[in-house]
Amino acid sequence: MTALQKAESIRARKGGRPIAALTAYDYPSARLLDESGVDILLVGDSLGMVVLGFPDTTHVTLNHMLHHVAAVARAKPRALVVGDLPIHTYDTPAQALESARSLVAAGAEAVKLEGGIRQADKVRAITAAGIPVMGHLGMLPQRVLEEGGYRKKGKTPEQAEALRDGAQALIDAGAFAIVFESVIPETARQLTAALAVPIIGIGCGDHTCDGEVAVVTDLLGSYPWFVPPFARPEADLASAIRSAAARYVARVTSLGD
Ligand code: KIV
Repeated sequence: MTALQKAESIRARKGGRPIAALTAYDYPSARLLDESGVDILLVGDSLGMVVLGFPDTTHVTLNHMLHHVAAVARAKPRALVVGDLPIHTYDTPAQALESARSLVAAGAEAVKLEGGIRQADKVRAITAAGIPVMGHLGMLPQRVLEEGGYRKKGKTPEQAEALRDGAQALIDAGAFAIVFESVIPETARQLTAALAVPIIGIGCGDHTCDGEVAVVTDLLGSYPWFVPPFARPEADLASAIRSAAARYVARVTSLGD
């Protein structure tokens, strides 16, 4: 399937079988997650925190993304590979298109960017070039410093309307799906019912959207130093790694017989 066909098959899931998306940042995890049946592998700029050790995603560069997108793409996943456009790589439509083309050259099949109405011209420029775009609304991690923290969105009718207007602008510009982050469940459910493309939630409650995306380290319990309140770990890799390493240290450093 081509990238456009894969993106179209995700778009066609609107209102149907829910979409399961996970972040992936390297070759082995991309292969393992793909073998598990995930629909979308998002090379998210969350890698700045959970892989590169930065305090937030504002430190991520296009070069960081290219490196990790290429690693994920080498797994040749059946899932759609979406690469995040980092902050200040899509400040104008021309820059957005150039950055998106770089991610595609590295192996991304679609790109994601944050924001609504003010990003519509960038989404239009990228989709006009045949590159599928996923939007991202609600809590925008690239604006965490301006906002002074990670806060819930869509709490008032005005906020819900602004979210709807932003989503509609992205859809009109050609976005095939939109991530909603930390939107309160009632608003997420209402807007998902009203909007024409799949809404993929994170921190929006269970079964409120057309699917969910999770940061893979939250799912696997491999980044124990910061766990968002909405995370639902299915494993405790941090403990498994620590105890395997401790057993190794004990074996190697024992004097033997
Ligand atoms: O970078 C990322 O991992 C994301 C998800 C939170 C959706 O954008």
